[in-house]
Amino acid sequence: MLVVNELKDVKGLKVYVRVDFNVPQKDGVIRDNNRIKAALPTIEELTKKGAKVILMSHLGKIKWKEPDMAKIEAMKKANDMAPVAKALQELLPDTPVHFVNATRGEELRKAVDSLKDGEILLCQNTRYEKGEEKNDPALAKEWADLADAFVMDAFGSAHRAHASTVGVPTFMKEEGKPVALGYLMVNEVKNLTRCVEVKDEDRPYIAILGGFKVSDKIKVIDTLLSKCDKILIGGAMAYTFAKAQGQKIGSSPCEDDQLDYARKCLEDAKGRILLPVDSVITDNFEEGSQRHIKTVDTVSGIPDGYEGMDIGPKTQALYASEIAKAKMVFWNGPMGVFEQKEFQEGTKAVCAAAAKLKGKAFTVIGGGDSASAVKQFGYRDAFSHVSTGGGASLEMIENDGHLPGVDILK
Ligand code: 3PG
Repeated sequence: MLVVNELKDVKGLKVYVRVDFNVPQKDGVIRDNNRIKAALPTIEELTKKGAKVILMSHLGKIKWKEPDMAKIEAMKKANDMAPVAKALQELLPDTPVHFVNATRGEELRKAVDSLKDGEILLCQNTRYEKGEEKNDPALAKEWADLADAFVMDAFGSAHRAHASTVGVPTFMKEEGKPVALGYLMVNEVKNLTRCVEVKDEDRPYIAILGGFKVSDKIKVIDTLLSKCDKILIGGAMAYTFAKAQGQKIGSSPCEDDQLDYARKCLEDAKGRILLPVDSVITDNFEEGSQRHIKTVDTVSGIPDGYEGMDIGPKTQALYASEIAKAKMVFWNGPMGVFEQKEFQEGTKAVCAAAAKLKGKAFTVIGGGDSASAVKQFGYRDAFSHVSTGGGASLEMIENDGHLPGVDILK
């Protein structure tokens, strides 16, 4: 696969770069610009060489099945890309960043044609187009026709076979235009491939999985069981496993339709899946309201009216001792409701334990909430790799290193 710096004679060339600028924002205020920063090396590689850079990204979700057009318009407004262009301009003060409030047609074509060498054009949210998520060929062709070359740098979207990620490079390849990976992609693919193609020196290999639903993680648990030495489970999904073992879970979240699966996993794992032995529980989820919080032995059970919110101190110590032995760690999903300070300790303890491996083991955070947690708790630099894609890194592991947005470039 070509890498962006291997594209030849890019001066004056129109290069379509698919980035993942799906950043958390509300009312035009961007709360975390990490994904924008992560794409800068690729963008600057091209602008410094005089390419005309056309950036495309989705932002948020537009539910096209919604019958009420006014609601669709409101979703569009909430996911307007214009503030992202402003944020990008602040990060690149010496490079003109233009924004076009169009995703198709004359206005888009004119904006592309008026770009000068070394300038950037950020287009409106790709999901403003109904055909984007369906990989509509007419849409992909229109976008492919805008540029002379394609660069994929949207790792966070590489598991989506959409028009902007797979459709465009498909047409460009057919037309003999060059397609390449950006620097962010190269780094992500290299690090996550190591979690898939496990070498002996990377053992013991420990996976830490948290998050809400077992059903979201079924495939990844199956794959990780075949690759890892141990899987440590936390977060809400731990209670489905606890119930599957016959434990009382009070009113903790549980997916009853996954109990058989959870039982089968535990059987297949033959002791390699570890579950919380104690939990921090509450009788009221609402922060700031009156509530009781206590720690209980999970095996003896969670009382009625209480729900599990975090792993308890004994589990923290147990998981820390397992992590201390690891040569490789893959972590996806927090251990508890870390957004509330009463339930942060489990996630913090896992952060601290994995951070102690710095220089001694290869540690990867699979994006999403765990990436926010390590940043919030000040451990970002202690990890070997913090992925920019939650869903994409999980799918890459599930599919043995394959992602549609990468495979199309091969
Ligand atoms: C992400 O934030 O995980 C990516 O940008 C993909 O977003 P999506 O789940 O809305 O496709």
